[in-house]
Amino acid sequence: MKEKVKQLLSQMTLQEKAALCGGADFWHIPGVERLGIAPAMVADGPHGLRKQNQQADHLGVNESIPAVCFPAGCASACSFDRQLMHQMGQTLGQECQAEGVDILLGPAINIKRSPLCGRNFEYYSEDPYLAGQMSASYVQGVQSQGVGACPKHFAANSQEYRRMTSSSDMSQRTLREIYLPAFEQTVRDAQPWSMMCSYNRLNGTFVAEHSQLLQEILREEWGFEGFVMSDWGAVNDKLEGLKAGLELEMPGPCKASTQAVVDAVQSGKLDQAVLDRAAGRILDVLLRRTEIAEKSAEFDHEKDHALAVEVAIQSAVLLKNSSALPLKPGQKVAYIGPYAKKPRFQGGGSSHIHSHRVDAALDYAPENVCWCEGFSGTDDSMTDQQMNEAIELARASDVAVIFAGMPDSFECEGYDRSHMRLPDCQNRLIAAVASVQPNTVVVLHLGSPVETPWMDDPAGVNAVLCMYLGGQGVGLATHRLLYGEACPSGRLAESWPLRLEDTPCYLNYPTSEEHSVYAEGVFVGYRYYDSKRMPVRWPFGHGESYTQFDYSDPELEPTSDGWKVSVKVTNTGACAGAEVVQLYLAPIEFEPTRPVQELKGFEKLHLEPGQTKTACFVLDKRSFAYYDEEMQDWYAPSGRYEIRLAHSSRDIRCALPVDWVSKQTKPMVIHRNTPMAPLLACSATAQLLQSWMPHPVRDENSSKEAAAAITDEMIHQMMLNQPLRALQAQNDQTDQWLADCIAQLQAAWDGTADNQPLQ
Ligand code: BGC
Repeated sequence: MKEKVKQLLSQMTLQEKAALCGGADFWHIPGVERLGIAPAMVADGPHGLRKQNQQADHLGVNESIPAVCFPAGCASACSFDRQLMHQMGQTLGQECQAEGVDILLGPAINIKRSPLCGRNFEYYSEDPYLAGQMSASYVQGVQSQGVGACPKHFAANSQEYRRMTSSSDMSQRTLREIYLPAFEQTVRDAQPWSMMCSYNRLNGTFVAEHSQLLQEILREEWGFEGFVMSDWGAVNDKLEGLKAGLELEMPGPCKASTQAVVDAVQSGKLDQAVLDRAAGRILDVLLRRTEIAEKSAEFDHEKDHALAVEVAIQSAVLLKNSSALPLKPGQKVAYIGPYAKKPRFQGGGSSHIHSHRVDAALDYAPENVCWCEGFSGTDDSMTDQQMNEAIELARASDVAVIFAGMPDSFECEGYDRSHMRLPDCQNRLIAAVASVQPNTVVVLHLGSPVETPWMDDPAGVNAVLCMYLGGQGVGLATHRLLYGEACPSGRLAESWPLRLEDTPCYLNYPTSEEHSVYAEGVFVGYRYYDSKRMPVRWPFGHGESYTQFDYSDPELEPTSDGWKVSVKVTNTGACAGAEVVQLYLAPIEFEPTRPVQELKGFEKLHLEPGQTKTACFVLDKRSFAYYDEEMQDWYAPSGRYEIRLAHSSRDIRCALPVDWVSKQTKPMVIHRNTPMAPLLACSATAQLLQSWMPHPVRDENSSKEAAAAITDEMIHQMMLNQPLRALQAQNDQTDQWLADCIAQLQAAWDGTADNQPLQ
């Protein structure tokens, strides 16, 4: 603990310390006025500033100050652009400075386990590496302004259904490989000032009372130096929370729970040291704030709006384009749908921003664009007249652009979707328009994938541009992309399955009212679809462009602790554009079961026509590792892997084989029921085993058929599944003989610097 903090603690009363560990009101941490520590203000987050002056609430019900709504996480993650996320974070940090907000409640980085989660629109990805990279850049940006960030919701909070009580039940491996790495990366790279613990339980224990998560993993392993605040109302038992590593209960006022803490310390129920630790950690952060705060910041709404437009452009994903896009200046174009006039650009709940202005695509449309409503934006109904008008307008135009999407009520904090469909009337409208107009373009405004039945129609649609929930600048961004003033360069941060029933957790989302069993384990998103080689509508990492890119000269170079990989990319088309080079690592010899490939790197390259740039990646032990539950550690087994340099998870452009040699020994206690498989896979133990295994001599007189019926290879395969004790009977030996064999095997296993697989 820092001297200054110790000194302050020594001057504080028990009451003051207890009060510091609970909100003063809805949006303030109390501070200690008597000692010159001012209260701190927190505000949502994550994709804009929701600062409320009066009538505080955490559901986005009451109005907040006019601010700038940036694209939501579902969109901005598709930018695959660390620098852009940093810039967005920096801008939000400046806005906080100008508004006197000390901590911004974001980013929201939970993993998208099912497309149904009502809050997916705020979250980044189904992939923890991408989510972690985006989050770390955002936090660095915010905190570069002397304002704290608060990544949320830590952890395993991937559904809204019964979010305050449901238990996310999963293996340690699943937790470590999928649900924690985005938080881990953010802590290691960006050291956020605070962390918001989630509402849910993890394997039965409330996260707000989970000492393994809050203390062992977050602090001891990752080195987190900030404080943990509860989500709004996530405290189930404050004393248990404090003991487990929760520091701040939100929101306030917390008069009753503060008194309970005081009483608990006085009666000896709560150790004074636990309270000092919590108060000390909060003080430490409050001091940071006053040390570096910049007082002259201004909230320049128009400047920040321009950045919101830019982020929306960089994040939009061109899902399909046969030929209709970009639109040509002289074309007669039909804009159909209410979202052309009034876009859907953000989701509901605590992230809801009071936008100071909202751009609509129609505001920027040239004169030869005609608009009709198509369907109602308020109740998602469609009259025959609306439908006919849309069909007629489409027929009379060169191109029809349908602005479709999910209505507000479909995507909101606090509840999940019950299906994965667009409103039925929109699906009917798209199919009907596409049947009369071959140049039909669909622009999507939504926060999560939907089923797209019209993609299977023989007429089909010509192009699909997904804007996700693109923030208040989405209209101008859409206009520029449609007309080729900007080149689409977003890539999907999540897979788009064909149907809800295809999703990995379909049968377990949730399992029961109180439990969500994460039975699919680490096979989330593309890890599942790719491992099962399932068809999907659009794969993870997918996104088209108005130009083309060529990959060449992939290279691999060893480093002291891994590999350096590079590949050259050339823009071979006619317009400037950006390519997101994705690196997937595929373990070829996998034991235990591992996803067929995983994202381990990406670089976004902006290229002029004809220009070539090199994308570089670094792979270390962690890139090759899985989380081994027996070792309780990351383990990268020796063996053959493949490095895939790709345009998407299903569009691999170059593949390089690589061998990884582990420096770790995987401990194993060998006993009479240990199966032979792992011992036969390690050269040292295999040699011993071979010498004890019976080698039946074939009868020379037996027929060819008899020999073919059970080959040596078949015998070998059978042995793999047999326990060691089978050797005893096969050799007609004593218990002592088997014990000696086991001792020799154990010595050979332990003595192997690496349990090298046989080559
Ligand atoms: C949400 C948080 C949010 C908080 C304050 C909660 O309901 O889960 O993400 O920061 O409210 O508005």
